Amino acid sequence: MKILAIETSCDDTGIAIISCNNTGAKVTEKKFKVLTNTLASQTEIHKKWGGVVPMLAKREHQKNLIPLFRKAIEESNLSDLSNISLDKKKEKIQNFLKKEKDLYQNLEQFLKSNQIPKFDAIAVTKGPGLDPCLWVGVNFAKALSFLLDIPIIPINHIEAHIYSSLIKKDHFTQFSPGKKINFPAISLIVSGGHTQLILIKKWGNYKILGETRDDAAGECFDKIAKLLGLEYPGGPKIAQEAKKWGKETSFSFPRPMLKHDNLDFSFSGLKTAVLYHLKELKELDEETKKEIAYEAQEAITDALTVKTIKAIKEYKIKTLIIGGGVSANQKLRNKIKNKIDASVELILPLPKMSTDNALMVGITAFYKYNKNKITDIKKLKADPNLRLKQ
Ligand code: KG4
Ligand code: ZN
Repeated sequence: MKILAIETSCDDTGIAIISCNNTGAKVTEKKFKVLTNTLASQTEIHKKWGGVVPMLAKREHQKNLIPLFRKAIEESNLSDLSNISLDKKKEKIQNFLKKEKDLYQNLEQFLKSNQIPKFDAIAVTKGPGLDPCLWVGVNFAKALSFLLDIPIIPINHIEAHIYSSLIKKDHFTQFSPGKKINFPAISLIVSGGHTQLILIKKWGNYKILGETRDDAAGECFDKIAKLLGLEYPGGPKIAQEAKKWGKETSFSFPRPMLKHDNLDFSFSGLKTAVLYHLKELKELDEETKKEIAYEAQEAITDALTVKTIKAIKEYKIKTLIIGGGVSANQKLRNKIKNKIDASVELILPLPKMSTDNALMVGITAFYKYNKNKITDIKKLKADPNLRLKQ
């Protein structure tokens, strides 16, 4: 069975193809093979705006999808290729892509001179994410699903971040949900759009225990970076500057919500504290920039660590899975490693699996195939506010 996976929820366009042995209805195989995992980053486009501009991101996804599709097909080296023409399906496909006219043109052009391998299903991120961006992926998946007559597996982006953290090698996963993981588990998902602590009693059974009340942790990194004149995405830039400081600071920023007896987070106050601090300075020299970056990173990672450890204790957690772009942060990783009880297994993603990619969409589809698969694609909608089912 071959699954084509599409990711367009934010500013990364991704296409991956995975293959698994079992072609039956039940996906029980433990291992699958990653045939290709392609990504087109839009960082250069959004950098000058200091953050992701949704309509620009939508335009770029439309531009990137077909070249990535071509690259993914080439890299996956599949032999079962055939010519597919739009023929009688043209009008309907045009209709699926009526809001993505550029993408339709690119697809039509592509089909004239390229062959397509035999796929068994298409996995696509349904949400949460940026509305115009999600729709590009969803409509592309619908067009391909109709063209190739194969089902769609809509994927929750947060769940995909959880699964992506389980990959241990580039080509095979060693995990089989429900077998190797000791439950109850908890997942800390920290990205540009989300900060959530999710209780996992068993695979597919989720409960959001706490989340941010305002900005996400990654968003906070990005906003503070912008205030410091550092480029988007701000997380890695702040981490770099902070590393150059690496000692006590002469001031401190607040650690919001730490004393509140819940598992929620709040990061917008921290950004404001940095803003006020900057206003008091006459000028921002390079040393102070490093010091602010250091202290801001300390404040964010303290908040994340304290609440995660609190949740582990309260819910007698046996496994902690961390995912999302901010999980690439070394300081956060070290703090959690130092604070976590030795009896709790800590699962961290490979650095390149922290941030958005299409492979995580494919992997989630592999595990959720039976439950999520849909053939009635008319009803499928992108959902920017999609939440994990409780
Ligand atoms: O998961 P992701 O790729 O996209 C979303 O779903 O939002 O996360 C992107 C976020 C950005 O805010 C970026 O600044 C942050 O992850 N990030 C980091 C690091 N690498 C990426 N934050 C802190 N430290 C890092 N090393
Ligand atoms: Zn993400």
